[in-house]
Amino acid sequence: METRPLHDRFGVEIKGVDLRSITADGDFPKIRALFEEHSLLLFKGQEMDTEVHTDLALLFGPMEDRVADAAGTEPRARVPVPMMTNQNDAGDGVVGRDSLRLLNLIANSYWHTDSTFLRTPSLINAITAYVVPSSGGQTEIVSTRAAWQDLPQALKDKAEETVFLHSVLPSRIDTDERLLDLPEVTRYQGQAWRAVWPNPVNGQKALYIANHIYGARGVDWSEGRAFAEDLIERATQPECIYAHEWEPGDVLIWDERATMHRVRPWPYDELRTLSSICTTVQEQDGLSLVSPADGPIRAEEVFPNREFIRT
Ligand SMILES: [Fe+2]
Repeated sequence: METRPLHDRFGVEIKGVDLRSITADGDFPKIRALFEEHSLLLFKGQEMDTEVHTDLALLFGPMEDRVADAAGTEPRARVPVPMMTNQNDAGDGVVGRDSLRLLNLIANSYWHTDSTFLRTPSLINAITAYVVPSSGGQTEIVSTRAAWQDLPQALKDKAEETVFLHSVLPSRIDTDERLLDLPEVTRYQGQAWRAVWPNPVNGQKALYIANHIYGARGVDWSEGRAFAEDLIERATQPECIYAHEWEPGDVLIWDERATMHRVRPWPYDELRTLSSICTTVQEQDGLSLVSPADGPIRAEEVFPNREFIRT
């Protein structure tokens, strides 16, 4: 197993691995250790299908079940693998520029961390590419561990005391309000998380931030949002970004506790198909370290409904 840096602050490509043959007591512990240290892993030239993809993700933890999370029910052991594609239902072309499916993908072009609005956030996203467009469509990733390290002490102190409020609605509203017609957008109540998430293995702190933030506990929402925007801007300066140019067979795995990402535009009349599996954070991954000491989101902190937004 050889590694090559992807960026001078984070991320490695791992060579000499066939992801079809990784086992929990074989190569996985080495991969997990590299994940804890580098926050982003790339494997190239993999023979992926949904089964290989699922088995790989399950090594990191339980598969995220967003339906169960929204309903407050027990997650299923295996969930259909989420596809991120602009393919139409007939499978013979792409959806129109105005379709909600495409707009929901375009909403991922804001800097974010996946699943911060779920009851239990995600540990990883493992993504593989099947069809890539002729240009664009890169996934850009930054290290929020590096961003933490570069913060002035006064902002570190402020962040340590901050609990941010997260919802999926702001990025969807900013993209196109019609996305509020999708139940998979409106079914979550949102969550409150500490702004700093220490890694339980090595103690390295990272900012836990995303475009999903609409406010912070105990201050005006506009003030909380402005603080989040400042942190996001600092974390996403051009020199901080690793931009991944997808090729079919690439697999990227990032640490949701220590990165943010976004998708770049592509010619939307071209097909782009990736699949993405998030796994759920468990106690040993540091769930209690990001949970607010003064309790989860409160009724008065929940992001308002669409009627409120439109006034
Ligand atoms: Fe994402």
